[in-house]
Amino acid sequence: MSNDQQSAKMWSGRFREPLDAGFEQWQRSLPFDWRLLPQEIAASKAHARMIAAAGVLAPDELETTLRGLDAIIPRARKRTAELCSEEFLKATSEPEVGRAISFAPGVLASSAEDVHHYVELELTEAIGNLALKLHTGRSRNEQIATDMRLYVRKHIGQTVELLAMWAAAFVELARKAGDAAMPSYTHLQRAEPVLIAHWLLAYVEMILRDVSRLKDCAARLNYCPLGSGAIAGATLALDRTIAAHELAFAAPTANSMDATSDRDFALEYAQAASTVGIHISRFAEEITLFATNEYGFIDLPEAFSTGSSAMPQKKNPDLTELLRGKSGRLLGACTTIATLLKGLPLAYNKDLQETQEPVFAVADALEGMLQHLPQFTRALRFRHERMEAAAQSGYLNAMAAATYLVHKGVPFRKAHEKIGNAVRYALEKGVELGDLTIDELRQFGPEFDSDFNAAISLSATLDCHDVVGGTARGRVRQALEEAARRVNELLSREAEEVAHAGA
Ligand code: ARG
Repeated sequence: MSNDQQSAKMWSGRFREPLDAGFEQWQRSLPFDWRLLPQEIAASKAHARMIAAAGVLAPDELETTLRGLDAIIPRARKRTAELCSEEFLKATSEPEVGRAISFAPGVLASSAEDVHHYVELELTEAIGNLALKLHTGRSRNEQIATDMRLYVRKHIGQTVELLAMWAAAFVELARKAGDAAMPSYTHLQRAEPVLIAHWLLAYVEMILRDVSRLKDCAARLNYCPLGSGAIAGATLALDRTIAAHELAFAAPTANSMDATSDRDFALEYAQAASTVGIHISRFAEEITLFATNEYGFIDLPEAFSTGSSAMPQKKNPDLTELLRGKSGRLLGACTTIATLLKGLPLAYNKDLQETQEPVFAVADALEGMLQHLPQFTRALRFRHERMEAAAQSGYLNAMAAATYLVHKGVPFRKAHEKIGNAVRYALEKGVELGDLTIDELRQFGPEFDSDFNAAISLSATLDCHDVVGGTARGRVRQALEEAARRVNELLSREAEEVAHAGA
């Protein structure tokens, strides 16, 4: 790197020697922090308004600065179009949500050190020396803290929207399943029959908790670091509420040392995202199992399955396998961020730059996964006869049978033992409980009567769980309506917020 280029650095005044060329390349963050360009520009505009209010920029200078900042992304797009063919752009654009490939190559062509430097260079080119006033009263330390908060806030919004759509798909599928039953499992051994809808609604609960965790994170991070300076606060008497308001933060952050070095929000986002990933992975695992011949509960949608290059008969569940696999990235990112932060003294340390990539990885992986889930979930087809047959064999009505005896006045512990004995007898005979005659049953207790079979039928076995949150048919119908109401409320709130943000 020549001395000329070196002197273009934002901090080169006190240096006699240029940077080692290899080190210079290696420490640059532009190769990844270009993704923060929209946030950096929004934050710069807010800062410009704040210093204009403090008299640093005259009104016409403010206008010129804002216009110059607004032109940066369109220029990067133009440069991208000049550099790359349309075919290249199409071929390289990632299917995962959030990759702004449209302006990336144009930005990456720059030798700027980071996204902050890039904006300064571009602005200088566009509006001349006036651009050099923009850095008055600010530090990159508060800028990156602000950019990252804006980025995480935006991606939480996108994730919540996708989660709401996924929850809606579960509600739709549950409605379609009606009163159809399936076995439930504990220890992966058949336990009791449940309604398919009951099983599906379990995922709605997980998703709604995930949404509330993400929203908590968004509320906690929603304070504006601008005006915190490098560590001790801006050296100009800035009205920090101007920038906070401009960027739709609730208020300025309360402590400049915390604001410039806090990345809790990044960790919290990664943690909440990991929990979403764990839920996605459990779902993926269940679907993968249920789609095997051994279970035979689900027909995989062909649009989301692949064949084998070797075995002509195969239909493989690649989507669910990739979901299970990719969710690991979220946990990895979480560990990376936590490990990065734990040894850092206050306040800013360059290590913090390393929190960016795991945050981007979380957004890419999570939104990429969620983008397919509503459609995939809706496309699942259940094999009702197989599921119902499985729900009716293997003594899944034994709990209901014990409950029958309890209603006849037998203490539960005793009832458990009597039904256990009956199951053993039936097992040896190779039949189900419902196949035993009254005389056979009475070997285990005099309480058995002709109403026994009705009490252990599939519908009775379902309906005896008649409590809030239970799988009795009436309860599930209520739960479905309640879940639909909560999901619709979430969907309309999200739609409202999107409309609001666009305004
Ligand atoms: N790229 C840096 C980061 O991500 C920006 C802040 C640089 N601050 C500094 N004092 N070197 O953290």
